[in-house]
Amino acid sequence: MAAACGGRGGEPRDNAVVKSAGFSRAPFGQVDGKNVFLYRLINARGMEVRTMSYGATIVSLRVPDRNGQSDDVVLGFDTLDGYLAPEPYFGAVVGRYGNRIAKGQFTLDGTTYHLATNNGPNHLHGGVKGFDKVVWEAEPFDRDGRSGIVFTHVSPDGDEGYPGTLNARVTYTLTPDNELIVEYSATTDKATPINLTQHSYFNLAGAGTRDILEHRLTLDADRFTPVDSTLIPNGEIAAVEGTPFDFRRPTAIGARIGADHPQLKYGNGYDHNWVLNGTAGQFRHAARVEEPTTGRTLDVSTTEPGVQFYTGNFLDGTLTGRSGRVYKQRYGFCLETQHFPDSPNHSAFPTTVLRPGERYQSRTVFAFGVKKD
Ligand code: GLA
Repeated sequence: MAAACGGRGGEPRDNAVVKSAGFSRAPFGQVDGKNVFLYRLINARGMEVRTMSYGATIVSLRVPDRNGQSDDVVLGFDTLDGYLAPEPYFGAVVGRYGNRIAKGQFTLDGTTYHLATNNGPNHLHGGVKGFDKVVWEAEPFDRDGRSGIVFTHVSPDGDEGYPGTLNARVTYTLTPDNELIVEYSATTDKATPINLTQHSYFNLAGAGTRDILEHRLTLDADRFTPVDSTLIPNGEIAAVEGTPFDFRRPTAIGARIGADHPQLKYGNGYDHNWVLNGTAGQFRHAARVEEPTTGRTLDVSTTEPGVQFYTGNFLDGTLTGRSGRVYKQRYGFCLETQHFPDSPNHSAFPTTVLRPGERYQSRTVFAFGVKKD
């Protein structure tokens, strides 16, 4: 079956849509002279995931509401063109280092490395041509009632200034229980920082229909990492208690987003890393979101130590997304499971350094459901 869809590294034999039980594939354009393919995964409960090989991007994700009505719950574009702009990373895998590295600089084993400063004074999401801007190899699979895609990418030594040849793999699996499993793995031939994450913007009411301020969020985090005005952690690990960052009980995202708090001013809303409770490396529940009008719910579990909760503060109505829907400020939220921002410059944060002989492994599950009442 995989052979019919073009094996890893294999070129497609034709432009026909290839169909099978759990997935199909269609051409979606070209980047850097390489064909980009759009894969569609479906399960028996009405969930559908569309993902493309450019950026290993989740293009659309349709899930039923409490009446069985399906809608797209992630922001995205109808065509490849929309994804070519530097921002806003709709649905992409970001890397090598998701989130920011201060002043685009870090020192590892005595050598100082210089990266692009593509976000004010800082480096963001792997640089100018990060993992969101390359065409990944793709191999679909369909086994035991689960369908999925394995995306692989080899990032050469020196890519965007990072050391070492990095072999990266991202696997998306759609389960019969309306879960999307995202598994990351990587190896390197020189020590390098790595922090891969998924940058989908969710809106459980339906992408492009309204803002996300009434979604009710729970974050399993007693602490967060406050930032400076350029969104670099100031090194503190602060308690959320008594602040607008306390989401330990279900709270509307918009309830305190306009509060007079310096951290909300720096972020222009929420754009911060929460320190997840429990043991990093162990797979555990991290976040839950409930959308009251449709009843849709999203539970996020991860092995990662942190999650960047971002409320689409930079969306401003200038982007028209899928089906002509205009994406205004706060029309989507991201839950980017990750290591903490700027870890290469904070020795007290969990390390992001991957060394030769080691394997980077990370797992996040996005589980969709409905709340009946
Ligand atoms: C992350 C960052 C935000 C923003 C978005 C992309 O979530 O933390 O500040 O850059 O990516 O627009």
